[in-house]
Amino acid sequence: MQLKLALASAVERLDAADVGSPRMNAEVLLMFVLGADRAYLYAHSEHELTPQEAARYEEVLAQRATGMPSQYITGHQEFWGLDFVVSPAVLIPRPETEHLVEVVLELARGVHRPKLVDVGTGSGCIALALAHELPDAEVYAVDLSDEALEIARANAARLQLDKRVRFLQCDVLKPVVDKTHSVIPSEDFSPSRGTCFSELRDFDFVVSNPPYVAFSEADKVQKSVQQFEPRMAVFAGSHGTDVIAPLIEQGHGALKPGGWLALEIGYSMRDEVVNLLSPTMWDDIRVVPDLQGIPRVVAARKQ
Ligand SMILES: C[S@@+](CC[C@H](N)C(=O)[O-])C[C@H]1O[C@@H](n2cnc3c(N)ncnc32)[C@H](O)[C@@H]1O
Repeated sequence: MQLKLALASAVERLDAADVGSPRMNAEVLLMFVLGADRAYLYAHSEHELTPQEAARYEEVLAQRATGMPSQYITGHQEFWGLDFVVSPAVLIPRPETEHLVEVVLELARGVHRPKLVDVGTGSGCIALALAHELPDAEVYAVDLSDEALEIARANAARLQLDKRVRFLQCDVLKPVVDKTHSVIPSEDFSPSRGTCFSELRDFDFVVSNPPYVAFSEADKVQKSVQQFEPRMAVFAGSHGTDVIAPLIEQGHGALKPGGWLALEIGYSMRDEVVNLLSPTMWDDIRVVPDLQGIPRVVAARKQ
């Protein structure tokens, strides 16, 4: 079948399956199958797909028609101009999260050799974007999910930032040393990672895009997120604060006096999060809206 006919029939099929932006999705998946860019699709619209190409296109269209995000099919998502590999073990990096990176970069101006940690690093997008922008920073990235950490480490290696970022499995900021997630408080060294637990302190920045959706709000989350993205990356207990609350407490302990906590928050969480920031422990509390005016980032300075 000719490329242009395959594309036209894919658009119809995705549209019928209620996939948003069917043309864009049909093109992205065809580019993925052919290993080509968009210009190729238009310059070679008469190209005859080989039987293998046609079969592969059919396969990925069938996956997309189930609602699976195209990023989990192609295995890639761009964030901060960098290419990240993704799998269903990690949240797909969102463009909104770039606001958090911008806020941290602004606050980090003039800070000499900033030490920072990204809590709930997922694909590693925040930690790696910051390491990329701040060549003298000392960067740590932690996640409770071992599978997510594997993806984050792979991204660090692909972006040649693996010597700059140290990854560690943690429950919020408490290191985990085995599969049962128990912490060995007497040990100060994680041999598999070569990281001293005592290094997780004296930070200039604790940064996080934590899970923040309440279980009761599950119906407000897009179906594809509910079905395909990791539950632990999205949901955080009955009020959505099961990670944010300990993060504020542990983040305070891990920061230097004058260090900054910077968090991405859900669209209706501003007051709840600001109320968790005790005025005796934090000052200079800032709420930064996104381009639509929705409160997106909360930053606060440790007193
Ligand atoms: C919203 S995702 C953010 C991923 C990535 N930072 C991003 O912005 O795309 C939240 C991440 O927090 C991790 N997470 C959930 N509970 C955690 C916990 N108790 N301690 C550490 N990480 C946790 C999840 O595995 C997930 O990778």
